[in-house]
Amino acid sequence: MKIALTGASGLVGSRITELLSSHFEFISLPQEDVDITAKDSVERALEMLSYDLFLHLAAYTDVDKAEKNSGLAYAVNVDGTRNLFEATQKAKKPFIYISTDFVFSGTNPVYDEASTPEPISVYGKTKYEGEQLVKDRAMIVRFSYPYRAHCPEKKDFATRVRELMLAGKELSMVEDETMTPTFIDDIAYSLKHLFTHFSPEVFHIVGSSSMSPYEAGKTIARVFDIKDAHIRPVSYKEFFAGHAPRPQYATLKSTKNTFHTMKNFEDGMREVGLQL
Ligand SMILES: NC(=O)c1ccc[n+]([C@@H]2O[C@H](COP(=O)([O-])OP(=O)(O)OC[C@H]3O[C@@H](n4cnc5c(N)ncnc54)[C@H](OP(=O)(O)O)[C@@H]3O)[C@@H](O)[C@H]2O)c1
Repeated sequence: MKIALTGASGLVGSRITELLSSHFEFISLPQEDVDITAKDSVERALEMLSYDLFLHLAAYTDVDKAEKNSGLAYAVNVDGTRNLFEATQKAKKPFIYISTDFVFSGTNPVYDEASTPEPISVYGKTKYEGEQLVKDRAMIVRFSYPYRAHCPEKKDFATRVRELMLAGKELSMVEDETMTPTFIDDIAYSLKHLFTHFSPEVFHIVGSSSMSPYEAGKTIARVFDIKDAHIRPVSYKEFFAGHAPRPQYATLKSTKNTFHTMKNFEDGMREVGLQL
């Protein structure tokens, strides 16, 4: 099966292609060849391409900068998605759109695939507009706080926290916020199933535990045996003052993922430790 994809150089995409390249032929469309905001360039590139399924991972992902650069965030996340989706639909190819927990407001106790998005940031709004463009015709797969062992190009939150702790820095971590960290290897193995079971519906591919960033920090210190970790609990209000709004309580669940068991954060961190 040939899978054409955007975002193959990113935090999540580079691990998906690394882990699954013996199962699928990946055809990467890097930004330097195809800027997805340029409709003509997208059309030309896709007309010449032979593929069975399209995986759209590329996005403008800087949540804080998106507030000021909203024009670019919309161009990449909305127009870029429209350009790709229209070109793939001309060729009648299945399309998978990757989305985020940031489409939710963070006020509900839990969010599953049936929950209604209500984004509160520019980034969240652009990703949700992308969802609406493809809804019921493409598969929408939402991720949440992805982490992995190695990715020097873009460090995930767990790597940044671990490295700062090991450097002896004091960390302020929010205690009245909930997130659902997700091991990227589990994302890759879940997608392996979804690639061959396409259906135009929403899936949450998320870790099996949710906790505050403060608790996540304590887990990282415990798993990596960092005895002198300095973690100062802070409030959501204090920590995110002057930043883009984030969903405060983002416990994500899946009622549909019956095909791959997702690790909890502690087990995911142990696996990261083994891979490092
Ligand atoms: N990371 C998270 O915390 C998180 C959480 C939930 C959901 N997600 C979603 O998961 C997906 C992957 O995220 P990620 O963190 O792996 O992304 P990332 O590391 O920030 O990488 C973004 C990718 O998008 C590409 N890109 C950006 N603008 C482009 C353009 N105009 N044309 C073509 N390609 C462009 C980049 O290419 P270059 O490298 O060439 O710039 C890069 O490959 C995204 O859809 C994101 O919304 C991420």
